[in-house]
Amino acid sequence: MWALINDTATQITLVVSVILIVAMVIIIKYVLRHMRDSSAAVPAGEHTYDGIAEGLSPTPVGMHLIMCGLVLFFFWYIFVGYPIWSWNQADQYDEEVSTYKQNFDETWKNADKNTLIAMGESIFNAKCVACHGYTGEGQNGMAANLLEYGTEKHISGVIRKGSKGLGYLIPEMPPQTVAIEAMFGKENLDGNINNVAAYVMQLSGRTAKHGDPASGQKVFVAVCQSCHGPEGNGKGAAGNIPNFSKDLTTYATDVDVIRTLQLGKKGSIGTMPNFAEEGTLSEIQYRAVAAFVSTELNE
Ligand code: HEC
Ligand code: HEC
Repeated sequence: MWALINDTATQITLVVSVILIVAMVIIIKYVLRHMRDSSAAVPAGEHTYDGIAEGLSPTPVGMHLIMCGLVLFFFWYIFVGYPIWSWNQADQYDEEVSTYKQNFDETWKNADKNTLIAMGESIFNAKCVACHGYTGEGQNGMAANLLEYGTEKHISGVIRKGSKGLGYLIPEMPPQTVAIEAMFGKENLDGNINNVAAYVMQLSGRTAKHGDPASGQKVFVAVCQSCHGPEGNGKGAAGNIPNFSKDLTTYATDVDVIRTLQLGKKGSIGTMPNFAEEGTLSEIQYRAVAAFVSTELNE
Protein backbone atom coordinates (compact mmCIF):
# COMPACT_ATOMS: atom_id res chain seq x y z
CA MET A 1 0.00 0.00 0.00
CA TRP A 2 1.50 3.34 -1.01
CA ALA A 3 -0.63 5.57 1.27
CA LEU A 4 -2.55 5.00 4.49
CA ILE A 5 -5.60 7.14 3.76
CA ASN A 6 -7.85 5.36 6.24
CA ASP A 7 -5.99 7.23 8.97
CA THR A 8 -7.97 10.27 10.21
CA ALA A 9 -4.88 12.43 10.76
CA THR A 10 -3.79 11.78 7.17
CA GLN A 11 -7.27 12.57 5.87
CA ILE A 12 -7.32 15.89 7.73
CA THR A 13 -3.84 16.73 6.46
CA LEU A 14 -4.89 15.90 2.89
CA VAL A 15 -8.04 18.05 3.01
CA VAL A 16 -6.18 20.98 4.61
CA SER A 17 -3.38 20.68 2.03
CA VAL A 18 -5.85 20.83 -0.86
CA ILE A 19 -7.59 23.87 0.68
CA LEU A 20 -4.22 25.59 1.19
CA ILE A 21 -3.11 24.90 -2.40
CA VAL A 22 -6.38 26.27 -3.82
CA ALA A 23 -6.17 29.33 -1.54
CA MET A 24 -2.56 29.92 -2.59
CA VAL A 25 -3.46 29.82 -6.29
CA ILE A 26 -6.36 32.27 -5.79
CA ILE A 27 -4.25 34.64 -3.69
CA ILE A 28 -1.31 34.58 -6.11
CA LYS A 29 -3.63 35.29 -9.05
CA TYR A 30 -5.26 38.10 -7.08
CA VAL A 31 -1.95 39.65 -6.08
CA LEU A 32 -0.58 39.45 -9.62
CA ARG A 33 -3.70 41.10 -11.02
CA HIS A 34 -3.57 43.72 -8.28
CA MET A 35 0.10 44.48 -9.02
CA ARG A 36 -0.72 44.88 -12.72
CA ASP A 37 -3.82 47.09 -12.24
CA SER A 38 -3.20 49.19 -9.16
CA SER A 39 -1.70 52.62 -9.11
CA ALA A 40 0.79 53.60 -6.44
CA ALA A 41 -1.38 56.42 -5.16
CA VAL A 42 -2.64 55.59 -1.66
CA PRO A 43 -4.02 58.40 0.55
CA ALA A 44 -1.36 59.21 3.17
CA GLY A 45 -2.01 60.22 6.80
CA GLU A 46 -0.33 62.91 8.84
CA HIS A 47 2.16 60.70 10.69
CA THR A 48 5.41 60.52 8.85
CA TYR A 49 8.73 59.03 9.84
CA ASP A 50 11.89 59.61 7.79
CA GLY A 51 9.67 60.68 4.95
CA ILE A 52 7.52 57.56 5.09
CA ALA A 53 3.84 58.26 5.71
CA GLU A 54 1.21 55.98 7.24
CA GLY A 55 -1.20 54.71 4.56
CA LEU A 56 -4.89 55.42 5.14
CA SER A 57 -6.45 52.68 3.00
CA PRO A 58 -8.74 50.39 5.08
CA THR A 59 -7.67 46.83 6.00
CA PRO A 60 -9.09 44.33 3.48
CA VAL A 61 -12.57 42.97 4.29
CA GLY A 62 -11.26 39.45 3.75
CA MET A 63 -8.89 39.83 6.73
CA HIS A 64 -11.80 40.82 9.01
CA LEU A 65 -13.83 37.87 7.77
CA ILE A 66 -10.95 35.44 8.37
CA MET A 67 -10.44 36.82 11.92
CA CYS A 68 -14.15 36.54 12.76
CA GLY A 69 -14.24 33.08 11.22
CA LEU A 70 -11.26 31.95 13.32
CA VAL A 71 -12.80 33.29 16.54
CA LEU A 72 -16.11 31.54 15.78
CA PHE A 73 -14.32 28.34 14.86
CA PHE A 74 -12.33 28.54 18.11
CA PHE A 75 -15.46 28.71 20.28
CA TRP A 76 -17.24 26.08 18.20
CA TYR A 77 -14.26 23.69 18.40
CA ILE A 78 -13.67 24.10 22.14
CA PHE A 79 -17.33 23.86 23.21
CA VAL A 80 -18.98 21.76 20.48
CA GLY A 81 -16.60 20.22 17.98
CA TYR A 82 -14.08 18.58 20.25
CA PRO A 83 -16.49 17.36 22.99
CA ILE A 84 -18.82 15.79 20.41
CA TRP A 85 -16.27 14.36 18.05
CA SER A 86 -13.64 13.76 20.79
CA TRP A 87 -11.16 12.37 18.34
CA ASN A 88 -7.47 12.47 18.95
CA GLN A 89 -4.52 10.91 17.24
CA ALA A 90 -3.16 9.10 20.32
CA ASP A 91 -6.49 7.29 20.90
CA GLN A 92 -6.73 6.38 17.25
CA TYR A 93 -3.20 4.98 17.40
CA ASP A 94 -4.04 2.90 20.50
CA GLU A 95 -7.20 1.64 18.81
CA GLU A 96 -5.34 0.64 15.67
CA VAL A 97 -2.64 -1.11 17.68
CA SER A 98 -5.20 -3.06 19.69
CA THR A 99 -7.12 -4.06 16.55
CA TYR A 100 -3.85 -5.16 15.01
CA LYS A 101 -3.03 -7.21 18.11
CA GLN A 102 -6.48 -8.83 18.06
CA ASN A 103 -6.09 -9.78 14.42
CA PHE A 104 -2.59 -11.03 15.10
CA ASP A 105 -3.78 -13.18 18.02
CA GLU A 106 -6.73 -14.44 15.94
CA THR A 107 -4.35 -15.53 13.15
CA TRP A 108 -1.97 -17.34 15.48
CA LYS A 109 -4.31 -18.64 18.18
CA ASN A 110 -3.73 -22.27 17.19
CA ALA A 111 0.02 -21.96 16.69
CA ASP A 112 1.87 -25.08 17.81
CA LYS A 113 4.75 -25.08 20.28
CA ASN A 114 7.48 -24.87 17.60
CA THR A 115 5.83 -21.93 15.87
CA LEU A 116 5.50 -20.16 19.23
CA ILE A 117 9.16 -20.79 20.05
CA ALA A 118 10.27 -19.45 16.64
CA MET A 119 8.04 -16.39 17.09
CA GLY A 120 9.36 -16.04 20.66
CA GLU A 121 12.94 -16.05 19.41
CA SER A 122 12.32 -13.08 17.13
CA ILE A 123 10.53 -11.19 19.92
CA PHE A 124 13.43 -12.00 22.23
CA ASN A 125 15.88 -10.64 19.63
CA ALA A 126 13.87 -7.44 19.34
CA LYS A 127 12.96 -6.83 22.99
CA CYS A 128 15.28 -8.69 25.32
CA VAL A 129 18.80 -9.04 23.84
CA ALA A 130 19.68 -5.42 24.65
CA CYS A 131 19.92 -6.45 28.31
CA HIS A 132 19.97 -10.26 28.39
CA GLY A 133 22.36 -10.67 25.43
CA TYR A 134 21.99 -12.78 22.26
CA THR A 135 22.60 -16.00 24.15
CA GLY A 136 20.40 -14.96 27.09
CA GLU A 137 23.27 -15.23 29.58
CA GLY A 138 22.75 -11.66 30.80
CA GLN A 139 25.88 -9.94 29.44
CA ASN A 140 28.25 -10.51 32.36
CA GLY A 141 25.73 -9.78 35.07
CA MET A 142 23.98 -6.77 33.50
CA ALA A 143 20.68 -8.70 33.60
CA ALA A 144 19.55 -12.09 34.90
CA ASN A 145 21.21 -15.13 33.31
CA LEU A 146 18.21 -16.77 31.64
CA LEU A 147 20.14 -19.93 30.80
CA GLU A 148 20.25 -20.66 34.52
CA TYR A 149 16.74 -19.47 35.37
CA GLY A 150 14.95 -22.22 37.28
CA THR A 151 18.02 -24.43 37.60
CA GLU A 152 19.66 -25.68 40.79
CA LYS A 153 22.46 -23.16 40.33
CA HIS A 154 20.08 -20.21 40.11
CA ILE A 155 17.91 -21.37 43.04
CA SER A 156 21.03 -21.92 45.17
CA GLY A 157 22.08 -18.38 44.29
CA VAL A 158 18.67 -17.05 45.38
CA ILE A 159 18.94 -18.96 48.68
CA ARG A 160 22.41 -17.50 49.32
CA LYS A 161 21.79 -13.93 48.13
CA GLY A 162 18.02 -13.48 48.46
CA SER A 163 15.74 -11.83 45.93
CA LYS A 164 13.62 -8.71 45.74
CA GLY A 165 11.56 -6.53 43.45
CA LEU A 166 8.87 -8.86 42.06
CA GLY A 167 6.16 -6.98 43.95
CA TYR A 168 4.83 -9.55 46.45
CA LEU A 169 3.37 -8.65 49.87
CA ILE A 170 6.70 -9.75 51.37
CA PRO A 171 8.87 -7.20 49.59
CA GLU A 172 12.08 -9.14 49.88
CA MET A 173 13.37 -12.65 50.43
CA PRO A 174 16.44 -12.28 52.66
CA PRO A 175 19.41 -14.68 52.25
CA GLN A 176 18.48 -18.01 53.88
CA THR A 177 21.95 -19.36 54.73
CA VAL A 178 21.82 -18.27 58.37
CA ALA A 179 18.44 -19.93 58.93
CA ILE A 180 19.57 -23.17 57.24
CA GLU A 181 22.77 -23.22 59.30
CA ALA A 182 20.85 -22.54 62.49
CA MET A 183 18.51 -25.47 61.95
CA PHE A 184 20.66 -28.01 60.12
CA GLY A 185 24.20 -27.16 61.25
CA LYS A 186 27.12 -25.49 59.52
CA GLU A 187 28.80 -28.68 58.23
CA ASN A 188 26.54 -29.59 55.36
CA LEU A 189 25.36 -26.10 54.28
CA ASP A 190 26.20 -26.62 50.59
CA GLY A 191 24.52 -30.04 50.56
CA ASN A 192 21.39 -28.70 52.25
CA ILE A 193 21.18 -25.79 49.80
CA ASN A 194 21.51 -28.17 46.83
CA ASN A 195 18.88 -30.48 48.27
CA VAL A 196 16.27 -27.77 48.89
CA ALA A 197 17.02 -26.35 45.43
CA ALA A 198 16.35 -29.82 44.01
CA TYR A 199 13.07 -29.92 45.94
CA VAL A 200 12.06 -26.50 44.54
CA MET A 201 12.78 -27.80 41.02
CA GLN A 202 10.59 -30.81 41.72
CA LEU A 203 7.75 -28.48 42.79
CA SER A 204 7.64 -27.06 39.25
CA GLY A 205 8.12 -30.41 37.57
CA ARG A 206 11.85 -30.34 36.91
CA THR A 207 14.54 -32.82 37.86
CA ALA A 208 17.77 -31.66 39.48
CA LYS A 209 21.14 -33.14 38.50
CA HIS A 210 22.81 -33.03 41.93
CA GLY A 211 20.64 -32.43 45.00
CA ASP A 212 18.30 -34.90 46.66
CA PRO A 213 14.72 -33.55 46.74
CA ALA A 214 13.56 -35.91 49.51
CA SER A 215 16.15 -34.49 51.94
CA GLY A 216 15.48 -31.01 50.56
CA GLN A 217 11.84 -31.25 51.55
CA LYS A 218 12.86 -31.28 55.26
CA VAL A 219 14.78 -28.02 54.76
CA PHE A 220 11.86 -26.57 52.86
CA VAL A 221 9.35 -27.36 55.62
CA ALA A 222 11.65 -25.91 58.28
CA VAL A 223 12.92 -22.80 56.49
CA CYS A 224 10.93 -21.89 53.38
CA GLN A 225 7.38 -22.99 54.12
CA SER A 226 6.58 -20.02 56.36
CA CYS A 227 6.66 -17.75 53.33
CA HIS A 228 6.20 -20.06 50.34
CA GLY A 229 3.45 -22.14 51.95
CA PRO A 230 3.10 -25.88 52.60
CA GLU A 231 2.44 -26.52 48.93
CA GLY A 232 5.05 -24.04 47.75
CA ASN A 233 2.43 -21.93 45.99
CA GLY A 234 3.48 -18.70 47.72
CA LYS A 235 0.40 -18.29 49.91
CA GLY A 236 2.13 -18.12 53.30
CA ALA A 237 2.35 -20.56 56.23
CA ALA A 238 -1.40 -21.22 56.34
CA GLY A 239 -1.54 -21.44 52.55
CA ASN A 240 -4.30 -18.88 52.14
CA ILE A 241 -2.78 -15.44 51.46
CA PRO A 242 -2.78 -14.63 47.74
CA ASN A 243 0.31 -12.86 46.42
CA PHE A 244 2.16 -13.34 49.74
CA SER A 245 5.38 -14.56 48.12
CA LYS A 246 6.53 -16.28 44.95
CA ASP A 247 4.62 -19.31 43.68
CA LEU A 248 7.33 -21.97 43.32
CA THR A 249 5.03 -24.56 41.72
CA THR A 250 5.09 -22.60 38.46
CA TYR A 251 8.64 -21.34 38.94
CA ALA A 252 10.46 -20.59 35.65
CA THR A 253 7.53 -21.95 33.62
CA ASP A 254 5.73 -19.94 30.92
CA VAL A 255 3.20 -18.64 33.48
CA ASP A 256 6.01 -17.34 35.67
CA VAL A 257 7.91 -15.70 32.80
CA ILE A 258 4.70 -13.97 31.64
CA ARG A 259 4.03 -12.73 35.17
CA THR A 260 7.55 -11.27 35.34
CA LEU A 261 7.12 -9.59 31.95
CA GLN A 262 3.80 -8.06 33.00
CA LEU A 263 4.95 -6.80 36.39
CA GLY A 264 8.68 -6.21 35.92
CA LYS A 265 11.28 -6.60 38.67
CA LYS A 266 13.22 -3.95 40.55
CA GLY A 267 15.86 -6.32 41.83
CA SER A 268 19.40 -6.17 43.11
CA ILE A 269 20.89 -6.78 39.65
CA GLY A 270 18.88 -3.99 38.06
CA THR A 271 15.45 -3.17 36.73
CA MET A 272 13.60 -5.57 34.51
CA PRO A 273 11.10 -3.45 32.54
CA ASN A 274 7.35 -3.83 32.90
CA PHE A 275 6.09 -4.86 29.46
CA ALA A 276 2.40 -4.41 30.37
CA GLU A 277 3.11 -0.72 30.92
CA GLU A 278 4.95 -0.57 27.61
CA GLY A 279 1.90 -2.26 26.09
CA THR A 280 3.42 -3.56 22.87
CA LEU A 281 3.13 -7.32 23.37
CA SER A 282 -0.08 -9.19 22.51
CA GLU A 283 -1.40 -12.25 24.40
CA ILE A 284 0.14 -14.66 21.88
CA GLN A 285 3.41 -12.73 21.86
CA TYR A 286 3.67 -13.10 25.66
CA ARG A 287 3.11 -16.82 25.29
CA ALA A 288 5.62 -17.02 22.44
CA VAL A 289 8.46 -15.24 24.22
CA ALA A 290 7.74 -17.19 27.43
CA ALA A 291 7.85 -20.47 25.49
CA PHE A 292 11.18 -19.45 23.99
CA VAL A 293 12.64 -18.46 27.36
CA SER A 294 11.43 -21.55 29.21
CA THR A 295 12.67 -23.99 26.55
CA GLU A 296 15.93 -22.11 26.13
CA LEU A 297 16.42 -22.63 29.86
CA ASN A 298 16.02 -26.39 29.73
CA GLU A 299 19.70 -26.99 29.23
C1 HEC B 1 10.75 -14.32 54.51
C2 HEC B 1 9.97 -15.05 53.57
C3 HEC B 1 10.72 -16.05 52.67
C4 HEC B 1 11.46 -17.15 53.05
C5 HEC B 1 11.74 -17.64 54.46
C6 HEC B 1 11.88 -17.77 51.82
N1 HEC B 1 11.44 -17.05 50.74
FE1 HEC B 1 11.84 -17.46 48.80
N2 HEC B 1 10.90 -15.78 48.25
C7 HEC B 1 10.22 -14.92 49.10
C8 HEC B 1 9.74 -13.80 48.34
C9 HEC B 1 8.95 -12.62 48.90
C10 HEC B 1 10.15 -14.00 47.01
C11 HEC B 1 9.96 -13.04 45.84
C12 HEC B 1 11.17 -12.10 45.92
C13 HEC B 1 11.22 -11.03 44.88
O1 HEC B 1 10.40 -10.09 44.93
O2 HEC B 1 12.14 -11.11 44.01
C14 HEC B 1 10.86 -15.24 46.98
C15 HEC B 1 11.44 -15.79 45.84
C16 HEC B 1 12.01 -17.04 45.79
C17 HEC B 1 12.53 -17.64 44.58
C18 HEC B 1 12.47 -17.03 43.16
C19 HEC B 1 13.51 -15.96 42.93
C20 HEC B 1 13.51 -15.47 41.49
O3 HEC B 1 14.59 -15.29 40.92
O4 HEC B 1 12.44 -15.27 40.91
C21 HEC B 1 13.00 -18.86 44.92
C22 HEC B 1 13.63 -19.88 43.99
C23 HEC B 1 12.82 -18.99 46.36
N3 HEC B 1 12.20 -17.86 46.83
C24 HEC B 1 13.19 -20.10 47.09
C25 HEC B 1 13.18 -20.13 48.47
C26 HEC B 1 13.73 -21.21 49.23
C27 HEC B 1 14.32 -22.47 48.66
C28 HEC B 1 13.58 -20.88 50.55
C29 HEC B 1 14.03 -21.66 51.75
C30 HEC B 1 15.43 -22.01 51.79
C31 HEC B 1 12.94 -19.59 50.61
N4 HEC B 1 12.71 -19.18 49.33
C32 HEC B 1 12.63 -18.91 51.78
C33 HEC B 1 10.07 -15.06 50.45
C34 HEC B 1 10.72 -16.00 51.23
C1 HEC C 1 16.30 -2.96 30.29
C2 HEC C 1 16.91 -4.25 30.43
C3 HEC C 1 16.05 -5.49 30.29
C4 HEC C 1 15.24 -5.87 29.24
C5 HEC C 1 14.97 -5.12 27.95
C6 HEC C 1 14.71 -7.17 29.60
N1 HEC C 1 15.16 -7.54 30.83
FE1 HEC C 1 14.70 -9.26 31.80
N2 HEC C 1 15.81 -8.65 33.40
C7 HEC C 1 16.58 -7.51 33.45
C8 HEC C 1 17.25 -7.44 34.74
C9 HEC C 1 18.18 -6.33 35.19
C10 HEC C 1 16.85 -8.59 35.45
C11 HEC C 1 17.28 -8.98 36.86
C12 HEC C 1 16.43 -8.29 37.90
C13 HEC C 1 17.00 -8.57 39.26
O1 HEC C 1 16.84 -9.70 39.74
O2 HEC C 1 17.62 -7.64 39.82
C14 HEC C 1 15.95 -9.33 34.58
C15 HEC C 1 15.33 -10.52 34.94
C16 HEC C 1 14.57 -11.30 34.09
C17 HEC C 1 13.96 -12.57 34.46
C18 HEC C 1 14.05 -13.26 35.81
C19 HEC C 1 13.12 -12.66 36.81
C20 HEC C 1 13.30 -13.27 38.20
O3 HEC C 1 12.32 -13.76 38.76
O4 HEC C 1 14.41 -13.23 38.73
C21 HEC C 1 13.30 -13.03 33.33
C22 HEC C 1 12.53 -14.32 33.21
C23 HEC C 1 13.49 -12.04 32.30
N3 HEC C 1 14.25 -11.00 32.79
C24 HEC C 1 12.99 -12.14 31.01
C25 HEC C 1 13.04 -11.12 30.06
C26 HEC C 1 12.43 -11.20 28.75
C27 HEC C 1 11.71 -12.42 28.22
C28 HEC C 1 12.66 -10.00 28.14
C29 HEC C 1 12.18 -9.54 26.77
C30 HEC C 1 10.78 -9.64 26.50
C31 HEC C 1 13.43 -9.17 29.06
N4 HEC C 1 13.64 -9.89 30.21
C32 HEC C 1 13.86 -7.89 28.78
C33 HEC C 1 16.69 -6.56 32.48
C34 HEC C 1 15.99 -6.56 31.28
